[in-house]
Order: sequence, then structure tokens, then C-alpha cells
Amino acid sequence: MQSIAENDLGTPPSASAVQVTLQIDGCEVTVPAGTSLMRAAALADLKIPKLCATDQLEAFGSCRLCLVQIEGVKGYPAACTTPVAAGMKVSTQNADLARLRRGVMELYISDHPLDCLTCPANGHCELQDMAGAVGLREVRYGYAGANHLDSAKDESNPYFTFDPAKCIVCSRCVRACDEQQGTFALTIAGRGFHSVVAPSQGDAFMDSECVSCGACVQACPTATLSEKSLIEQGQAEHSVITTCAYCGVGCSFRAEMRGEELVRMVPNKDGHANHGHSCVKGRFAMGYATHPDRITKPMIRASINDPWREVGWETAIAHAAAELRRLQAKYGRDSIGGITSSRCTNEETYLVQKLVRAGFGNNNVDTCARVCHSPTGYGLKQTLGESAGTQTFDSVMAADVIMVIGANPTDAHPVFASQMKRRLRQGAKLIIADPRRIDLVRTPHIEAEHHLALRPGTNVALINSLAHVIVREGLVKEEFVRARCEVESFEKWRRFVAEERNSPEAMAAETGVPAAAVRSAARLYATAGNGAIYYGLGVTEHSQGSTMVMGIANLAMATGNVGREGVGVNPLRGQNNVQGSCDMGSFPHEFPGYRHVSDDATRARFEALWKVKLLAEPGLRIPNMFEAALDGGFKGLYIEGEDIAQSDPNTQHVTASLTAMECIIVQDLFLNETAKYAHVFLPGSSFLEKDGTFTNAERRISPVRRVSQSKSGYADWEITQLLARALGMEMNYSHPSEIMDEIAALTPTFTGVSFEKLDRLGSIQWPCNDEHPEGTPTMHVDTFVRGKGRFLITEYVPTTEKVNARYPLILTTGRILSQYNVGAQTRRTDNVMWHDEDRLELHPHDAEERGVKDGDWVGVQSRAGETVLRAQITDRVQPGVVYTTFHFPESGANVITTENSDWATNCPEYKVTAVQVTRVTQPSAWQRRHGEFDRRQQELLDQAVHAGAGAGEPAR
Ligand code: SF4
Ligand code: SF4
Ligand code: SF4
Ligand code: FES
Repeated sequence: MQSIAENDLGTPPSASAVQVTLQIDGCEVTVPAGTSLMRAAALADLKIPKLCATDQLEAFGSCRLCLVQIEGVKGYPAACTTPVAAGMKVSTQNADLARLRRGVMELYISDHPLDCLTCPANGHCELQDMAGAVGLREVRYGYAGANHLDSAKDESNPYFTFDPAKCIVCSRCVRACDEQQGTFALTIAGRGFHSVVAPSQGDAFMDSECVSCGACVQACPTATLSEKSLIEQGQAEHSVITTCAYCGVGCSFRAEMRGEELVRMVPNKDGHANHGHSCVKGRFAMGYATHPDRITKPMIRASINDPWREVGWETAIAHAAAELRRLQAKYGRDSIGGITSSRCTNEETYLVQKLVRAGFGNNNVDTCARVCHSPTGYGLKQTLGESAGTQTFDSVMAADVIMVIGANPTDAHPVFASQMKRRLRQGAKLIIADPRRIDLVRTPHIEAEHHLALRPGTNVALINSLAHVIVREGLVKEEFVRARCEVESFEKWRRFVAEERNSPEAMAAETGVPAAAVRSAARLYATAGNGAIYYGLGVTEHSQGSTMVMGIANLAMATGNVGREGVGVNPLRGQNNVQGSCDMGSFPHEFPGYRHVSDDATRARFEALWKVKLLAEPGLRIPNMFEAALDGGFKGLYIEGEDIAQSDPNTQHVTASLTAMECIIVQDLFLNETAKYAHVFLPGSSFLEKDGTFTNAERRISPVRRVSQSKSGYADWEITQLLARALGMEMNYSHPSEIMDEIAALTPTFTGVSFEKLDRLGSIQWPCNDEHPEGTPTMHVDTFVRGKGRFLITEYVPTTEKVNARYPLILTTGRILSQYNVGAQTRRTDNVMWHDEDRLELHPHDAEERGVKDGDWVGVQSRAGETVLRAQITDRVQPGVVYTTFHFPESGANVITTENSDWATNCPEYKVTAVQVTRVTQPSAWQRRHGEFDRRQQELLDQAVHAGAGAGEPAR
């Protein structure tokens, strides 16, 4: 059903540069060639009735409601499927057309329930609108004949219903699933009167291939497919445009509201990252924001063995500040630090790093990007000169060959995956480098040319062998390299990759990928035209993560695949604001805009504005904080929005470090795993309760807008400001727009960014400054940001994490569509109906060897620890490799991951852990301890809740 604020022009726009002029109802209209008559009329504000057409989908021409007359043309062509032509004279309204349209509508209405007044779509139903538009007053056929009015509803999906009695078989849902989502889950089964919409082979929605993206619900012109929230709550009164707080695609949504109550999230057709599409998380998984587990009152306690005490904000903030100052007085200035999260807005992250640098007086600030994309920042800065992806998502539509390395877009970046699939269905070729057979390898109407199923940990060996082929077979774009890159660095790199030891044949023993496949993939990438690389955490989360990022950049430069549409190096960022949290200076060595803290000129600018002396030496990274805590020198941590006890590797090491600290302040929505080790809990706000911005994987800064009051009384930036003031800092922002103004004043790539401009343009891709006042869609167009592109030697160094007789398998980790990161949000929604536990994927050979059957409990032992998961036997993984997700704390996926990390950035080597797998009958010792600790912490929380807010002054 249409959003409350959308105008549908009937068919998609035409990209033609040729303009055509025609007459519609006597008005002269000029539109691009290829535009439909329906769209041309709509652009001239002339509405032609329609049912099967929508501007989100290709025209289909099935309902026959949009008939028009064209001078000199026989019959009544459909406006949605007829393109404009120069000089055409079109009538959209006359007595004949009115009669024909009424006849069509009569047939529809004769088989449609007449319960408009109680229908959830009442007032927003296109069928109802069209009945009015064509002036239908009576149905001559009566309602007694054969009809579909008693068809049973399908309520299986937790978020939407399917009521076939209301279906007009317009096929919009089927086409939305095909064209927009690319899942092909729906068909029209049967013929004529017996035509019905059927998920898969007539299954219930939940039993079909449906991934609950909501595209069909959005496309449906009637109430046949309706959100359950809309049915329960009624239609919205107003809507606010905001940005999804889940993944790095950064989809724009219209939050449809009734007062303070969210009715539904509707993907914004004008959203630059999603163009009206969505996935199950951003569209439906909002239940966490009002979940009873949410903590809304500040709490403090002396030790983690004490019950929590609810206190007012003033007490909590004063206590936190006093503790931080006490620790600094006792253990020194550097004994405390802060961690921010990629789930927070840019403005919040900026404030946390400001608080640490200017308020704590050290540079001990880090972010969760440390454990995901820090190698991207490092590797791309070294080679191309900027720590960010080079393209827009839309650029993929101009790619001829797409290489996906260590990423699983259909699960982790689903809306971009749908766009990529659209391009692949148009004929672009696909190369996938991944140890696991991800869905993209073979999905409806798509089959990868090459699936390079490498062994985990051998990325650099693979990229070097791809480069070897390109260099040795003369496929380098010499002209590009000579003009755009440092020739000396190129020549050095060329000699290096050309060495025989880097050949696909020599590297096959390491990678496990047949040399012929590597050769063929390299030729395809280098010669197919526009070659675009998309990569994810399967590239970065390795001991050679930074090396691999540089290897990818080398490959793109050598083949001339940088600096225009359809090409580039594109990191797919995991969380909503990974790019932004890095941009905002949340690493210990960098100010906002990736400028080193040792740079005197930069530091001077910050010192002048912040009126404080700043340190020139980098502070501690997260793993260094843990080490220092265990050594006794690091005692206090302010953590905003991050759950390090679940997300960071080697859980037992992390929790030992947390236990060694004296004051942990957690600012979050829930008592997450880290908060169970905390002494101060500051209740945060969800993205629906605050203003700010997120920056997605394409460097796109998008607005986040408050649609309801914070349940805790404060937005997160306000809490940081309260803490800063309690520590004696001057901080007086009255709105996040003022924080953005300060960011713009201090950051060369952001000088042109403001809330006013964001509201005007919808979103902006940085750099945005005098040179690029409306942002920069494609980077490195004429020159690289660093001037000349730099090739770097990428020597393959095998990881020290080796398989042996004791640990013969390699564990690698990843995500699943319905869950998000540590699962704190999505586990508190109906998304658990798709995925309610993490499982261990195991190849049938490895399972058979161990006597493991599907669904058995298996112990997974590594050098770091042991956990127990349920086995899922599948040949998606290759023999010798096992795989799991990490969305549930009790799974303890990170109990087994080790502390190995990227040589340059300390990004953990999550993707390679040597393990053994055995059948077991009970949880691991860690799981039992964790279960006990968890129960105890829940009791301590419940005691606080039951004590009420009497302790300390009342909460705000
Ligand atoms: S479910 Fe809706 S969109 Fe699909 S065919 Fe029926 S009326 Fe059309
Ligand atoms: S929700 Fe999405 S995947 Fe499911 S049937 Fe509808 S369009 Fe297809
Ligand atoms: S693709 Fe990502 S940003 Fe878009 S709706 Fe899904 S989770 Fe949100
Ligand atoms: S809207 Fe044109 S045929 Fe249905």
C-alpha cells in the first residue's frame, strides 16, 4: 500500500537524453524519449487511472484501466505500456474511455469484499481510489456468483498478512519480488478466474523463499498484502524521513507515525541509497525500540556483584565523572578511555572523541571499526589517498564485471545486493572469491562465472596470483598507470607479482583454487570493460587484512578500474555508521578527517577551537586497553553503544580485562554483555529518538531524524555532553546541527556539510566543500586524492593460525540476513522466527568423519576456548572449513576466536580459527559459566527495577 506522502508517476523514468514533445488533453508536454504516456501525463499533472502500474516497476499492461485514445491510432492503447512519440495527440478522458474504465472496475469490484470502512487500507487503497476516479456507482453483475471472497488469509509472516480475498491479481507483488528484490518467490498460479498469487509452489509465505523484504507489500495497490502493524494500529497521521540504523547500505525510510507511535517504516522512493527498496531489518525489525528489556533509568553500583541502584541523571553523571577523575588522580591521566560505536550518529561519535581528547586529556579513544574495517581505512589511504570507497551504489549499474571478495551482500547488504542482482540479470559478469558458497554464486537468473572458493586466510595469495596473470599476460592498462600512478611503485609491484612464486599454479597449493580458474577470472576482470570490486569483512578481518585491501587497490589501478562510473574499490561496511565513525576521528591516532594527532597544524586548529592543549601521541587501541587493564594500568572506560564483551575476539580475555577495571560506564539500550561488567549504566536512545546523521558505505551522509521522545529523557549526544560538563568541560550544544557545524569547521572534507543542506538535498556524499559543494559521487576522477596512485608490495605471509592434528578445521564467521551484529536489537524482534540460534555449518564429509548428524550438538574447540553449537550439515562450506554466525551471546562464537590480528591495524583475525569439532551432549564449561553469570546479572538488574526509582533523586 502506498506511503502517505508518495506521488506515483505510474512507470519508471526514462534515461534518454532525447526530448520528445507531444500533446496530452491539449497540453504540450516535453519528456525524455521512452517515457510512457502515463508518466508523461502524470508529469503534466494529468492523472490517468491505473491499477497494475507503479513507477517502481516496469509497465505490465494487465489491468486495462489506463486506456487512452491517440489521434490516428486504432483502438484504445494502454497508457502505461505506450511510449511517447513526437507530435502525438492523446486524449485521456472522454465518454468512451470512461465507459470502458467503468466496465473494467465493475469486474474487479464484483469479486472484492465491500468492507471498505473496516479495511486497513481505507482511504489509501488504489482500488477504492480508482472506483471513485472512474465514477463507478453500481455493479451490474451482483456479488452472488463464483468469487474469491472466502479465500483463507495467510498470516504466517510475522510482519504482514496476505488476504487473497482482496487480491485483484495485478501482479505488482510478483513483479516487485522479481524486479526490485530479485528473489522470485511469487508467481501467479492458475489461469483466468483461478489465477492466484502463490509464494513458491503455493506454500505459506514463511515456508517459501520469501525473505520478507516488504517490496510486495509496498507494491500492492489493495489491502491484500498489509503490514500487521498497520492493521493493528491504524493508518499513520504524519511521516518523517530518516535513515535505517542497521547496515552500511543506509536506506532512507519514511517513519509513519501516529503521534509518538511508530506505525510502519516505509522505504523512501527518493532515498539515494535504496530508491524505495528495503530489507526485513530496516522495514520491519523495529520492535526492539519499545521492547520491555529496554532500560530507561540511569543505574549505578559499586561492584558487579552488587544489585543495580536506579538513580536520577544528576547522580549518575556526577558519580561517573567523579569516578573517572578519581581513577586519573590515582592511576594517572592515561588510565581511562572511551569507546564509541558505529551504531551511533556522526555527531555522537564526534562528541565521544572530543570528550576523550579534550576532557580525559588523552587519545585513548577507539571504535568498533577497529574490529571490522580499520584495514580499509589504512589500505585505501596508503594506495589511493582516501580511507573510503570510491563509488556510489548506483555505479554498479554501469559495471560489466563485478568481483565480490569476502562479502555476502544478500545477507549483510541486502538492498545493495538487490541492485547488484538487477545488473547481473542485465548481463554483467560475476566473480566471487569466498571460501563459502554464498547465495550469489547461484540464485534465480544469476550464476557466477567463477567461484574462487579459496581457503580462509589465503586472500593475499589469491590477489597476487590474479595480479600475476594480469601483468604476465599484458593486461595492464599501461596508459592509465603511466598517467595516473607512481610509475616507480608500479614497476616495483609489477616485478614482484610477475615472480613465478606468485603465479596461480604456485599459489594453488595455498589457496586451494585451481590455477585455470584464477587465470580465467583475472582475464575477465581485466578485459570485460568496467570492472568493479566489492569486498567485506572476509577481506579485512585477517592477519593480512590491510595487505589485502592494498592488493585490491593495486589490481584496480593496474587495470584502470578507478575514477569513473561502473568501476572502483568498494568496501561494504557492516554497520550503519562504520564509515562515519572512522570519519569522525574515533581512532586513537586520528582527528576527524583522518589527520594524524601528531600533525601540528591540525592539532593547533582543534586546540584553538576547543581551547585546550591536546596530546600529539596516539592513544590506546581497544586491544591495548585490554592489555593495559590486565597489567593494572588501565582502570576506567566509557562505552557508548558498543558491546565489546560479545563482539570482540577471545571473549575470556575481554571479560578478564573488563573485570580488572574499576569503573566501566556503559551507555546503551539494554543490559548487554558488556553492561553486565559495568558500574554505571546510562540509558541511551534509539535512532528513532534522536537527530543526527549516519554515513553509509558510499560516503553518503544521510539525516537521522527524531520521531519520538527519548524514553530515557536524553538523546545520546546530550548524555555525553552532561558527562563532559561534569568533568569540567565547556560543552553547550543545543542541537546536533551545531555539532555538525563544528565538524564542518574543522574537517576539510566536510566544510560544505550542514543540516540545512542535508534537508535540501536529501543526502550528501563527502568530500563536500567549496570544490564539491553538493558532494562527490565518484572519487579519484582526474587524479587520486593523494596525487598519484601508489602501488604497494603485498607479500603473502601465511597466518600463524595453523591447522594441525589437534585443530584440523578452519572456522570462519559471518552474518545472516535477519540478524544484525551482536543481535541486541534483532534478537528482540520477530526476526528470531528466521534465525533463533547460531549454528555451525559443517561439510558432509567432515560431519561423517565425526559421526555428526544434522541438528546434533557439537563442541567447537580452538586454542582460545570451547563452545557448543548445533550442527548444520551443508555443502555450502568446503571440506575442512566450518562456519558460524555470532548473533547470540550464548553461542560464544568469540570464545573460540583468537587474538591474532592485522599487522597494521590490529583488526582481529575473526575469519581464521583452527578448531576441532566433536559430538557432545552438554554445553561447554564457558557456556555454563556464562549462563550462571547471565542469570545472576539479570537478578541484580531485576532487584534494581523492583526497588523503583526511590534511590537518589527521581529520574528525569
Ligand atoms: S497481492 Fe496485491 S499486488 Fe499482488 S496481485 Fe494481489 S492485489 Fe496485486
Ligand atoms: S516480501 Fe520480498 S521476498 Fe517476500 S515475497 Fe514479498 S517481495 Fe518477495
Ligand atoms: S539494507 Fe541495510 S540499511 Fe537497508 S533496510 Fe536493510 S538493514 Fe537497513
Ligand atoms: S495501469 Fe496500464 S494496464 Fe494497468
